[in-house]
Amino acid sequence: MGENIKKLFNDEIQNMRNYIMFEIKARQVELTPELKAKNRAPIPLSMGAPVDPVPDFVIKKAIEYMHVDNLHTYTTPKGEVKFLEAVAKRMKERFNVVLNPKNEIFSLIGSKEGIANLIKALTNAKQDEKEKDVILIPSPGYASYTQMIKVAGARAYEVELKEEDDFMPDMERVLDKYIEEGNNPEKIKALLINYPNNPLGCTCDLNYLQHCVDFCLKHNIILISDNAYCEMYYDESYKPHSALECKDAMKCCIEFYSFSKSYAMTGWRLGWACGNKDIITMLSRVKSSVDTGVFKVIQYAGADLLESPEGQKYIDEQNVKFKNKIQKFVDGLNSLGYKVKMPKATFYLWLEIPERYSDCKAFADDLLEKSGIVIVPGIGFAKNAKRYVRLSVVASDNDLSEVIKRMKEDGFYYN
Ligand SMILES: Cc1ncc(COP(=O)(O)O)c(C=O)c1O
Repeated sequence: MGENIKKLFNDEIQNMRNYIMFEIKARQVELTPELKAKNRAPIPLSMGAPVDPVPDFVIKKAIEYMHVDNLHTYTTPKGEVKFLEAVAKRMKERFNVVLNPKNEIFSLIGSKEGIANLIKALTNAKQDEKEKDVILIPSPGYASYTQMIKVAGARAYEVELKEEDDFMPDMERVLDKYIEEGNNPEKIKALLINYPNNPLGCTCDLNYLQHCVDFCLKHNIILISDNAYCEMYYDESYKPHSALECKDAMKCCIEFYSFSKSYAMTGWRLGWACGNKDIITMLSRVKSSVDTGVFKVIQYAGADLLESPEGQKYIDEQNVKFKNKIQKFVDGLNSLGYKVKMPKATFYLWLEIPERYSDCKAFADDLLEKSGIVIVPGIGFAKNAKRYVRLSVVASDNDLSEVIKRMKEDGFYYN
């Protein structure tokens, strides 16, 4: 059958590009021998994956639980009682949000999977663009949102996060614009927000979260809050909140959490969803059909980490480490003429590219091919981000110093 096999697949998948991060990774691998030969071995600042060791505590716990017999069998997609109860306790302590572990919390194989499955549950797959259900997403925003919405046969509508609005757009104005552009408001199923934001590193205040909750309640749509970076902040005055702290949030909101960033546990694939019980029930219909949950050992070790002082200590120490690391790197880039600001949260830098480059892809390619520095073009995060790139400040201190050194030696000054 050859090429014809591809034609059997659904139109979205046939026409889709691979996820941008994996395309960049493939290019990095392809160029590695050449880059090594000129003393420019690749330094990845592309994926949002911390390279630090995970908390020792969670490794020890996982090893202990590996030896427990009944933890090797199927779990339920919803999760182990021990895990769900630990999440409820954490949400109470951290945000003063009270949740029923029986029906308001659900374990996830990482938050990406949970958001993707929720979108599948929420939208009807359609081919005609005008007929598609719509999810409002932040722009710039996590590159996977647009991909997962496409996979579901739905449409993403980008809500611009602008500095002049302090990155907190007035949602009624956004809706007016959406309608003025000829879009059908009845098609909107959800507002997806992500504070702290990947890739901007901006945060929002509780008033703004309340604004989003009120907007969703008024227009009968769901609020999806992606709180993957809620523990990665560098200033107590910008300490992230949960949308579930807002009045009436439990009527319309589901929130997503991850172990990946705050505990550097990207490979463990552990997270949770919590919020409105009807939304959780609908999510569970998809999840119980397509997966069988997270390995019990991982849930048990994760539960202990959430409840332990070691877990909080790790988060606090990482935040000090990241703050120093990022500040030093920001200073290094600005010494080359760039105008980059210290983010309020996350480990991302959103960098304006030098004028001499035609667009972000040309800059990212040049930086990779000449200097072995792997970054992500801004168009992966927003249609109109042609003049920006994202740098993930996750490499070791030595590698970050090496990046600045190479940029100097290879002429990557801003002007
Ligand atoms: C905003 C945002 N949400 C979710 C995720 C996915 O995290 P997880 O590893 O929990 O699937 C990422 C990962 O980069 C992210 O940046």
